[in-house]
Amino acid sequence: MMKFFILISLLMFLSCQKKLTKQEEATIFAGKAMQDIASGMMAEVQKAVDTMGAKKAVLYCRDFVPGYTQEKLATWSQKAREELGANSFRFRRISLRNRNPANTPNELEKAILEDWEKTGRAQPTGYERDGKIITLHPIKIASPLCLNCHGKIEQMNPDIVKEIRRLYPNDLAVGYSLGELRGAFLSEFTFPNEPK
Ligand code: HEC
Repeated sequence: MMKFFILISLLMFLSCQKKLTKQEEATIFAGKAMQDIASGMMAEVQKAVDTMGAKKAVLYCRDFVPGYTQEKLATWSQKAREELGANSFRFRRISLRNRNPANTPNELEKAILEDWEKTGRAQPTGYERDGKIITLHPIKIASPLCLNCHGKIEQMNPDIVKEIRRLYPNDLAVGYSLGELRGAFLSEFTFPNEPK
């Protein structure tokens, strides 16, 4: 009897849930993708710092990111097709204080990142633009590991600082503290019909 009651309550609960919009579905999906991609990346970078020494790890980071991104893109694009019915899925990282010039945000992205910083409330955000659904998820300086390469210069290993300046002469991505907002994980979806 109890079981039956629970089943009925569950059904009632489910039927009251409003159907998620494509944009909401995409935001949830992108959050899962980010978690997988970020945790894998963090493990790889940690391994690089431990085994190669800090300076080589910087170069590794630069060379590793494109290949890793391609690999993860293949897995998550397929999932996006199967689970969301999307035509395409892409992702990249952006920051107001970017290291790689390719990670510069556009005007709209910049406005969202600035709002997150100003209000201190960085939260997953989704919108439509040019027939695409775009989602932004905050990336934080989540671990002391990040400070090796994004921390305050005077507290960083001088070899790392030198290597970063050599590879990225216009680097802006230092001076962070633990827990600070570092940027966003940006996902871009297209769907067979214009998203509603
Ligand atoms: C061993 C050095 C190193 C460590 C440790 C490291 N990063 Fe980076 N980070 C880099 C390099 C190098 C780039 C530029 C990669 C490229 O050229 O695409 C970068 C780029 C980024 C970007 C892309 C935006 C930009 O500025 O170009 C984000 C976001 C980021 N890092 C966050 C983190 C976070 C969060 C952590 C800790 C979990 C972390 N990084 C740890 C070296 C490091």
